[in-house]
Amino acid sequence: MAQTETSSRGNWNSKVGFILAAAGSAVGLGNIWRFPTEVASNGGGAFLLIYLICCFAIGFPVMVAELSIGRKTDRNPVGAFKALSSNKFYPLIGFWGVLCGVMILSFYTVVAGWTFSYVFEEIFFFMGLESWANYFAEVSNGVKNGIFSTIFMGATVSIILGGVSDGIERATKFLMPVLIGILIIMIGYVSFQPGAGTGFAEYLKPDFSQISAPLIFSAMGQAFFSLSLGMGALITYGSYLSKKENIPEAAAYVTLADVGIAFLAGLLIMPAMYMAESFGVSIFSESGELLASTDLIFQVLPALFHSLSTTAGMIFGVSFFLLLSMAALTSTISLLEVPTSYVIDEYNVKRKKAAMMIGGGILIISLIISFDISLIGTIDFIFSTVGLPLGGFLICYFLGYVWTVENALEELEHGYPALDSSIFKAVWPIFIKFLAPLAILYNLLEAIGLVSYIEQLF
Ligand code: PHE
Repeated sequence: MAQTETSSRGNWNSKVGFILAAAGSAVGLGNIWRFPTEVASNGGGAFLLIYLICCFAIGFPVMVAELSIGRKTDRNPVGAFKALSSNKFYPLIGFWGVLCGVMILSFYTVVAGWTFSYVFEEIFFFMGLESWANYFAEVSNGVKNGIFSTIFMGATVSIILGGVSDGIERATKFLMPVLIGILIIMIGYVSFQPGAGTGFAEYLKPDFSQISAPLIFSAMGQAFFSLSLGMGALITYGSYLSKKENIPEAAAYVTLADVGIAFLAGLLIMPAMYMAESFGVSIFSESGELLASTDLIFQVLPALFHSLSTTAGMIFGVSFFLLLSMAALTSTISLLEVPTSYVIDEYNVKRKKAAMMIGGGILIISLIISFDISLIGTIDFIFSTVGLPLGGFLICYFLGYVWTVENALEELEHGYPALDSSIFKAVWPIFIKFLAPLAILYNLLEAIGLVSYIEQLF
């Protein structure tokens, strides 16, 4: 019976298709918009270092956990926890994931809508900084914002309607290589511009004195957001994975691809920011603070591109925003697939109806946000920076102490016959049972001030 259910839910056509789809989910606005500006406002190289540690020491083990839970159960996040335990509490972990997915998608669609609108503005208009600021004020407010959010959600729903291999897999197989190509060409171009060296130095030289609890907390949140972890996106993608595939190997590729593209995006944006200085465009506000990430990407960068020359500016502008839109699309697909698969599996609704209903419902939240973009920061903080690590902690706990690592290893052995004698088998359980959950918990408690409170008690 499980077999028929699996095939009717859909499956990846190939290993490459799966890796590209999962990497497509991971690579998104998080890498190109959120990451470089987090680096810039959090002490450059120091943040990069902590971020890398979070990705490999916490993110990678959690990714293997999510994929193994998904493949074992052939289920959406809620159904997966139901299948592995009879305790009614655990499916709540899946519910939390679905809720985080819905809320993240609602603001993500708005930001993705801005990037898409910029592709057209870049083609039709050549503007200076003043007018980019005006344009951004116009596009990020009200009706225009709503129209582009709607277009973006429409594109996402139409791909989801195609199903797993014909929709998601086919789209990402095309989009991911184009994205990497554009990124590399642009880095090549920026590297030879005056002022680029300062940006590279800021990015790559860690200043250890900058490492602080808030920096570690942001880096951890960024790692979860960027790797699409903690909300069951990879439980869902894992549920379409065949027993032939080697999960730790696939997870390693996905982590490397995501970290690699974030790193490349930093190589583009950090020098670009410092070039902006040398072109007389300031990236600091009057009080000396770094501008908000949104201003950097949607005002300073376009102005910088256009200060090169009109044609170069347009080519840069169109490529950059097309790149951001494509990266965002492969992520919104996975964000929508989580609640969609939940409704398909648990309520027996047809894919088409499920995707349209949920996409439509989330669009309504996006439209509300379109008219008050100050909501983005709050939703992002609750559901990404706090929500995803919290989900990750619960997943580690569930796998380590409820389902147990022995059962998970048995699942992982499919597609990984050499598992028994591998270092992975010796090390992964320690990370899942102790290191990752304790690190997450400590950071979460630190962020809400409980750690210093407890310290005061002694
Ligand atoms: N990883 C995506 C990005 O970096 C965002 C995302 C988060 C997608 C969670 C799916 C799940 O933009």
